[in-house]
Amino acid sequence: MQPQLLARIRDIRGCLAHLRTPDEVAVRRDQPDEFSWRDELPGGPFGADADRYLASRAFRRLPGQMSVLSAVQMNSHFQTRLTHSIAQVAPAARTMAEILGLNANLAYASALAHDAKAPFGAPGERGLSKLAQEYMSGRTFKHERFGVVLYQDIERLNLTWQTLVCILNHSTGYGADNPTGVLPEADTLMYADKMYRFPDAKDMFERRIGGQPLFRWRDFPDLRELLDWFGATTAERIDRYIAEVCLESERAGRVFFGESEAAAKYREIKDIMRDRIYRTMHFSSAEALLKAVFREFMRLLPDVDPVVAVALLSDADALFLQRQIFANGRLRLDDIGQLALGELLPILSGRTFDLENPDLSWGPAAAK
Ligand SMILES: [Fe+2]
Repeated sequence: MQPQLLARIRDIRGCLAHLRTPDEVAVRRDQPDEFSWRDELPGGPFGADADRYLASRAFRRLPGQMSVLSAVQMNSHFQTRLTHSIAQVAPAARTMAEILGLNANLAYASALAHDAKAPFGAPGERGLSKLAQEYMSGRTFKHERFGVVLYQDIERLNLTWQTLVCILNHSTGYGADNPTGVLPEADTLMYADKMYRFPDAKDMFERRIGGQPLFRWRDFPDLRELLDWFGATTAERIDRYIAEVCLESERAGRVFFGESEAAAKYREIKDIMRDRIYRTMHFSSAEALLKAVFREFMRLLPDVDPVVAVALLSDADALFLQRQIFANGRLRLDDIGQLALGELLPILSGRTFDLENPDLSWGPAAAK
């Protein structure tokens, strides 16, 4: 980091400590449970939440999920849901919280677990939401709500209310009208999550299809200049972004990134990537693929919520099921039984899940 910026960051350390969510307010729905003794250790209840999540089956399903790019044509340096969560969002949220004096363990735990997405990233989420509307009486699918349902009602991790509420609110809009309005640590998670355009930009411009680059820097001099303002490498850009969020938050007296020069530049990056990169990529195949699987789930698993079942697939699972449908004209129970989803069917059978309003009403009244 530039020495001047580093000195300013040192100056503002702990500036929002008065807003910190203390460990003492942590509450779990089932209290105590057999792991509650860990809440007394130095990492506190939120550090224990991170461990609960990392030991869960939900975490083990994460490596099979892409972040934004199609699973096809990826190489192993590209961002996946796993690297997005564990290597970028979680360290960034924790670092922001550490600089600002907030609860770093809460920021870290909620960031680790924040992305409980459907297969195929954002296009998959849109596709699944359309299917839910079409076939499930106008229901929708939002990954932040699904995350709460997944950890609370399916995996039964008994995470703290504070971690769950950060997850539920992490997708709030970016900009002046932002913050989440719940806990300051949810805001650090939100801003940490939204910097995914830095690694995405690198991935997109390195991606080659049939030997040809998908995008060329010479067609995007404006984007290049904006990215280079933050730094020469993805790591440097992320560092500068974290620093700028913290500096503006110190000035605003709350976690906030919306009016500074850096925020304006980042908004430009976001707009260019939305209009000239993400929108030009062909995502309709994700929707069609999920639709075929969804309809087969409705036929084969009448006691299981098809939205939840599809959301629990990895990208590779969904591609495997598509191949089975293509080869055999339909799915068989054995096809599903060998997937992680097959192991979860006894938990899902005969149950309905409220994906519109996950129940967090058991939390502390003052923080609702
Ligand atoms: Fe994310």
